[in-house]
Amino acid sequence: VDLLGTLRGILGAGDLLTGEACAPFESDHRRLYQGRALAVALPRSVDEVARLLAACNAARVGVVPHGGNTGYCGGATPDESGTQLVLSLARLNRVRSVDPENYSLIAEAGCVLAQVQRVAEAAERHFPLSLGSEGSCQIGGNLSTNAGGVHVLRYGMMRDLVLGLEVVLADGRVLPGLTALRKDNTGYDIRGLFLGAEGTLGVITAASLKLFPAIQSTATALAAVADPGAAVTLLARLRAASGDSVSSFELIPRIGIELTAAHIPGVSDPLTAPHPWYALCELASSRLGEPLDALLTEALGAAYEAGLVRDAVVARSGRERAALWKIRESIPEAQRHEGAGLKHDISVPVSALPQFVERGAAWVAAHVPAARLIAYGHVGDGNLHFNLQGRGADGPALLKRAEEVRRALHDLAAGLGGSFSAEHGIGRLKVAELERYAPATELALMHAVKRALDPNGIMNPGKVLRRS
Ligand code: MLT
Ligand code: ZN
Repeated sequence: VDLLGTLRGILGAGDLLTGEACAPFESDHRRLYQGRALAVALPRSVDEVARLLAACNAARVGVVPHGGNTGYCGGATPDESGTQLVLSLARLNRVRSVDPENYSLIAEAGCVLAQVQRVAEAAERHFPLSLGSEGSCQIGGNLSTNAGGVHVLRYGMMRDLVLGLEVVLADGRVLPGLTALRKDNTGYDIRGLFLGAEGTLGVITAASLKLFPAIQSTATALAAVADPGAAVTLLARLRAASGDSVSSFELIPRIGIELTAAHIPGVSDPLTAPHPWYALCELASSRLGEPLDALLTEALGAAYEAGLVRDAVVARSGRERAALWKIRESIPEAQRHEGAGLKHDISVPVSALPQFVERGAAWVAAHVPAARLIAYGHVGDGNLHFNLQGRGADGPALLKRAEEVRRALHDLAAGLGGSFSAEHGIGRLKVAELERYAPATELALMHAVKRALDPNGIMNPGKVLRRS
């Protein structure tokens, strides 16, 4: 029997797509890659995933796990050969259970992140992972890419929010591990290998996730500052002054306000005069009626007196809060309106961030003067999206210099003890960067793990590691 016939025998009718129907699964959302799939499988149970993988392993056919397709590095897109099976987890989308007293829930890989947030909320709990694509990204993708977002400084990345995993291995065996334990010192952290592995070691089908007390009070402000150094100092002060209740702290450059105001309906500059940089600060507490607004206003007032903050606006309603967040969240979309650009996702220790921006901006001004720098992101995590934007006809010329720009900025990050991929992963886009910057011993261990778990190399071939 041919493989497609076998797969049809495993899946229900309509759960195996071929031909034109595969199109939505064959390119990434940034359209960096255009692949061709043998077929797209949409299994409805862990058992179906297991049988699919066993069949593909026997046939030596590559399998590309696919979630909400919101990744930045092409990790969920098949190659151009037309021989790889795309495995969509979209129909494994149940929250299996919620345990409010254990502060945990079990969600299947195809659950949309916002769905998990809502289920937690309904149980008076909080699932803190939060990112721009939360309305469409899936938990399996969040786990497989170790997603970050805007609450990492308080709650950690996806890896930190996991208690247990259920994984189907390349040969079809199921690794059961949906433990809800906070303590379990029983040998190697095997499950941890699959977090951030981008589907190259197996397929995560469900996870046991940590919950937190529901958020009852928040306070949000946009503070204008002179430079990223002032933002870093402000964050350190706010953490101490608020009993460590800072839940987000995002850096926005002046151009971020200008581009979102120009392209995104409903966005305008909330302050009267322009400033070079802004910090979007949010405090959050699980205590009802906590006077966070007063606390934030007072802390920003003191920072103003100290010359750290130049102006600030504190949101007085949910609507004003949403308007401030909209500025930050629309920057990627506003950038798309401006045409071609280069994206980077670097991290350095928080204390080294000002130096990175200063040296990075100087390099860009000297070597790519036509480009506009749009550096924004997660200051509290030392993570910036250090993006360059062309202007009209300059766009394509900028893209031709991608390698040179990437090298300069990634070398700069590495020199400051940083990373070339803070939260977007490796996928296909950054395989060469990983080879360049990972210590040789670590890379050798990664290849050894890959060979041990996927000896036939069927799991997401060519992602994270080059095929060997
Ligand atoms: C963000 O923080 O907005 C995303 O991670 C990066 C981006 O969209 O450029
Ligand atoms: Zn980000």
